[in-house]
Amino acid sequence: MLELRNIFLQVDGESGEKVEILKNLNIDFQKGKVYAVTGPNGGGKTSIAKVIMGIYRQSQGQIYLEGEDISDLSVTERAQKGIGYAFQQPPRFKGITIQDVMSIASPGADLVRIRSFLRDVGLCPEDYLDRDLGTGLSGGEIKRIEMAQLLLRDPLISIFDEPEAGVDLWTIQKLLGLIVSRYKHNPNKTAVVITHNEKIIPICDEILVVDGGTIAAQGPPEKIWHLIKDDIECKVRNQCQGEVTYGVK
Ligand SMILES: Nc1ncnc2c1ncn2[C@@H]1O[C@H](COP(=O)(O)OP(=O)(O)O)[C@@H](O)[C@H]1O
Ligand SMILES: [Mg+2]
Repeated sequence: MLELRNIFLQVDGESGEKVEILKNLNIDFQKGKVYAVTGPNGGGKTSIAKVIMGIYRQSQGQIYLEGEDISDLSVTERAQKGIGYAFQQPPRFKGITIQDVMSIASPGADLVRIRSFLRDVGLCPEDYLDRDLGTGLSGGEIKRIEMAQLLLRDPLISIFDEPEAGVDLWTIQKLLGLIVSRYKHNPNKTAVVITHNEKIIPICDEILVVDGGTIAAQGPPEKIWHLIKDDIECKVRNQCQGEVTYGVK
């Protein structure tokens, strides 16, 4: 469905030197599957999402969506073709209400649907629809609004970048329920969840461990979980000291 072929990404480092963030990535995201993308901080997970969305332009390689080469398309064109990305750190736009951003995400969506998607991410529509996106909202609220926009848009491939950040224990259960009900066994859609969460990873169909700008390990949870379990649990307990290697180095 979405294929990354020999993708390299170079950016300018602090002293002007070229830094290679992604190195010869090859990934096939298939329809009807939920993917977990995990791995240490700085490994390149967000950069992969941004290259797919067209926010970062790869220095080499091709991206295909349903067989069409989309490597040269803009962010807007890729969005129109069915790629959606919920940012790890969503931008805060001042002077625009939550109802407005939901309507922009899915033009023509009626208020009943908008309300139901806000409820799905644990936000009471009455309290939020008229609020300004720029001020007074917590990081967790902004993340959930971002998630609701992507759920409402429902593109062919939805990429959620650390959706668990800023949600509490109760909403982790809701988030899990949403992923399962919306994407598990949905033959027409692909979900990619960038996550460190010990509850989300095991329910995904395929785990990709990204480290050092490459895929360090890939496979179904039963094959990969034992490699990363200790690091994920250590992260959960907040006891990590030094570098977290995710067992794959
Ligand atoms: N625009 C950029 N300019 C310079 N370095 C970047 C840029 N974007 C990402 N990086 C670097 O690339 C590496 C991978 O980052 P990122 O993709 O955000 O990792 P992850 O999401 O796995 O934590 C990090 O070392 C990060 O500092
Ligand atoms: Mg990231």
